[in-house]
Amino acid sequence: MTIQWFPGHMAKARRQVTEKLKLVDIIIELVDARIPLSSRNPMIEEIIGQKPRLVLLNKADMADSNRTNQWILYFKDKGIKAIAVNAQGGKGLQEIVPSCKEILKQKFDRMKAKGMRPRAIRAMIVGIPNVGKSTLINRLAKKNIAKTGNTPGVTKAQQWIKVEKELELLDTPGILWPKFEDQEIGYKLALTGAIKDTILNLQDIAVYGLRFLEKHYPNRLKERYEVDNIPEEVVELFDSIGKKRGCLVAGGEIDYDKTSEVIVRDIRGVQLGPITFDLIEEHTHN
Ligand code: G4P
Repeated sequence: MTIQWFPGHMAKARRQVTEKLKLVDIIIELVDARIPLSSRNPMIEEIIGQKPRLVLLNKADMADSNRTNQWILYFKDKGIKAIAVNAQGGKGLQEIVPSCKEILKQKFDRMKAKGMRPRAIRAMIVGIPNVGKSTLINRLAKKNIAKTGNTPGVTKAQQWIKVEKELELLDTPGILWPKFEDQEIGYKLALTGAIKDTILNLQDIAVYGLRFLEKHYPNRLKERYEVDNIPEEVVELFDSIGKKRGCLVAGGEIDYDKTSEVIVRDIRGVQLGPITFDLIEEHTHN
């Protein structure tokens, strides 16, 4: 799914999330474990304000697990609980309910002390497109979609999904826009498949990917494309990959567009192994 984000759409998306904020106790913010910062909405702090939050680093199966652990600590340092999950395979999902309970313990204790009847925690999932929101909701829903009546304050009945006994999830996630105006972030979003058709040039995306791999995962690059030494000039690496993969035009010249497609497809398809593109060392002073 590709969404064209124009200022009007962003304002509408923001309004929709803001409206639903008052219905929930906690926000479950989904980010892509391969790009935990680049896959966040640039205004998320402002949009959700003081609302308690749990961050899920989804697609952890596609990310570099050492780096995922570093990112979990990064969020912890900021006072935000984060956990690694795989919404598709199910790994880590059993931690969601206990984590929400832990984050909201004081609030629920206070409610109890005031004599209020115990109730389930209410939550909403937010995140940029393709981060795995629907996969997660479907996985958590099993068959527990509960139709509730009108919820005070909203005209349309909200559907809540019961997750175990103690959590109720809004069935529609909040879809937020990524920070695509930053070119480097744009490349990372393209390489992870968050943005499929992009205004960015495919060759530039492939070059960014190759340079990143060269620097941080050189052995994976050598193995995948069977090169003994990575050439200094990126064009030579393109030539070598293009030749091996048969990306040629008539006359035997390398077809750089086709080669770029192969590289981007390989990276998106985890053919070079799990990779994390956001590096903690570049963000520790933010
Ligand atoms: P969204 O609602 O946030 O837009 O995302 P959605 O659930 O549609 O997920 C986008 C793609 O990511 C889906 O692949 C989904 O299967 C995949 N996905 C979600 N969570 C995980 C995860 O934890 N691990 C892995 N490996 N994949 C996950 P798709 O339907 O095949 O679409 P695509 O691959 O063509 O993008």
